[in-house]
Amino acid sequence: MKAVLLGATGGIGRALARRMAARGDQLFLLGRDEASCERSARDLEAWGASEPVGTARCDLLDPSSFAPALDQAAARLGSLDTAVVSAGIFGTQEALERDADLRHEMLTANFVGTIGFCEAVRPRLLATGDGTLCVFSSVAGDRARRPVTLYGAAKAGLSYYLAGLDARYRREGLRTVCVKPGFVHTAMTAGLRPPPFAAEPDAVARAVLRAIDAGRPVVYTPAIWRLVMLGIRMLPRAAMRRLEF
Ligand SMILES: NC(=O)c1ccc[n+]([C@@H]2O[C@H](COP(=O)([O-])OP(=O)(O)OC[C@H]3O[C@@H](n4cnc5c(N)ncnc54)[C@H](OP(=O)(O)O)[C@@H]3O)[C@@H](O)[C@H]2O)c1
Repeated sequence: MKAVLLGATGGIGRALARRMAARGDQLFLLGRDEASCERSARDLEAWGASEPVGTARCDLLDPSSFAPALDQAAARLGSLDTAVVSAGIFGTQEALERDADLRHEMLTANFVGTIGFCEAVRPRLLATGDGTLCVFSSVAGDRARRPVTLYGAAKAGLSYYLAGLDARYRREGLRTVCVKPGFVHTAMTAGLRPPPFAAEPDAVARAVLRAIDAGRPVVYTPAIWRLVMLGIRMLPRAAMRRLEF
């Protein structure tokens, strides 16, 4: 694969990038902090990346950075057949209700910015006739729940958009992979109380890479979350008003 990765400087994205490097995929890293991207690129070379890993600045909060970053990636890789977007931010419901700036940043990065980036990369992936766009949403977007009302709203919108891309472009050769992780131990969740089925980034990365290879439109990871969310989606509203999960 010739893949551009946005969000591989940490967490699940880094674990996924390491797995891709180890099997010889050609990678190009995008991120908001150039020094951090450079460090991650050297790390991926140590993990076995087949060629030097290029980097470019790309910030979900700065749409003007999208096209130049993708131009640099395409120039280095020759063409792009895969894009992975694992960049995103989280805030607790309490923090997001309290802090209007944080709320705006989360909604902008996780919804407006992520969709804007996907729209920027979509024509390039379609041009290959066999492209893959893998984007991290969340189980939080599957059903409105009290502890993740705002974060979940952004992820619900993102999941909806990705399902639409799948409906609209799969026949033209664009495979959309919507990743729905449950709780994963990363910097994003540091300090939060882990619920049941909490996972490690590398296990999630392994499942995501399998889904990319198979072109699966939706992947819950760990897989048990598909059943958990099926049950939660069936609960009546009265139960949702009481549920603290
Ligand atoms: N961890 C979980 O439990 C969990 C559960 C469900 C869904 N998810 C989703 O899975 C994805 C990955 O989460 P994670 O746990 O791996 O998070 P993480 O460890 O916090 O890593 C987040 C990544 O996003 C990048 N990023 C943040 N803001 C950005 C911006 N404005 N522009 C560009 N890049 C930006 C970070 O870059 P820097 O290195 O510059 O900070 C980092 O590479 C996210 O979309 C998250 O919402 C996570």
